[in-house]
Amino acid sequence: MSAFRRLIRRDSDLSFGHTEGTEVPAVGHLVLCRGAAARGNSGPGQHSSPPRENHMSVIRSALEAAVRAPSPHNSQPWRFEVAGDRIDVLLDGDRVLQAADPDGREARLSCGAAILNLRVAIRAAGRTPVVELHTDPARLATVRAGGPRAASPEDHALARAIAYRRSNRRPFTERTVPPHVREALVRAAVAEGAELTLVREPGLTGELAMLLRRAERTQRADPRFQDELARWTVTEGARDDGVPLVAGGPRAEPGTQLALRRFGGGGGERPYERTPLLAVLSSYTDVPLAQVRTGQALQRVLLTATTAGVSVSFLSQAVEVPAMRSSLRRLLGRPTHPQAVLRFGYGFSAPATRRRSVDQVTHHLAEAPS
Ligand SMILES: Cc1cc2nc3c(=O)[nH]c(=O)nc-3n(C[C@H](O)[C@H](O)[C@H](O)COP(=O)(O)O)c2cc1C
Repeated sequence: MSAFRRLIRRDSDLSFGHTEGTEVPAVGHLVLCRGAAARGNSGPGQHSSPPRENHMSVIRSALEAAVRAPSPHNSQPWRFEVAGDRIDVLLDGDRVLQAADPDGREARLSCGAAILNLRVAIRAAGRTPVVELHTDPARLATVRAGGPRAASPEDHALARAIAYRRSNRRPFTERTVPPHVREALVRAAVAEGAELTLVREPGLTGELAMLLRRAERTQRADPRFQDELARWTVTEGARDDGVPLVAGGPRAEPGTQLALRRFGGGGGERPYERTPLLAVLSSYTDVPLAQVRTGQALQRVLLTATTAGVSVSFLSQAVEVPAMRSSLRRLLGRPTHPQAVLRFGYGFSAPATRRRSVDQVTHHLAEAPS
């Protein structure tokens, strides 16, 4: 056992069905999340070991899922070490955004999202994911493919959603996200120990939108932030990381409530939805380990939205500018710590962004003798 304190938790449950189309479709039945505590997963030692070739393909498909996680500016701040049925998730400090994310908070959220993808893929492969979160700032977690466990249709739906999920910065329609889907999004966050506050009151939406505009102005006036943004804004196909121009949303018409991050996309101005559904994902503490956990909540919320045909974009300005993050906390009147601001709605499909391959980010270690 390493000197680092380890928190051991097993996988939690969720979800519902998904299909794909040009217009992001509404889909399948909704199974509300029961939460991690309600689960009776079996641990790794309670089953006979699956054959080695099986666990190699499980690990491979889990890593393919992990690299599809979101990350700010598509920086992909992760690396993986594999030994047998064990994957260590490492934070790649060279990929932490120095201007947008000097403390690495969003990089830890991103690695948390990658961990959730590992868990989901392992479950869909019929194995029990066993996760240890570490307090080591560089080695964030160990995920193992444990004993056999029959995958449910919901496991498969969530796993399928990994490939279809994407940040959609385009205007959404005025169609309202119905209460049962909102409830599922909230439950997805709760199941991972976080809180998703949906901003329902128009007055509060207005205040949050104002805060976002102020934060966006602050970042636009910050040359370090702008230089960094320019470095991570890429021509389509030129690199396996960064945000391609085509993934940036169109410019919003003057008078639009929301301020979305501009990735240099040209084109004309377009109206955005008049009544956006905004939400704030928060954690109960703000220590690094809580941020890794909240990253898992973030990804469960995003996958849940994807399975329901709901598009999502991030509005992180308000949590990246420290003064605005404090204002946001006051605005919500909650003792929790805002980690991400999200916008939900119904939209048309957005382009997928590229990733570095599994082989580029994975180091294989010799298996320890058992
Ligand atoms: C913690 C975090 C913060 C993010 N903040 C923003 C943001 O403020 N604005 C934005 O347009 N995208 C934001 N993104 C989305 C990333 O740019 C996006 O995940 C990345 O480009 C990969 O694209 P994909 O999500 O479509 O796979 C954020 C993602 C993460 C994980």
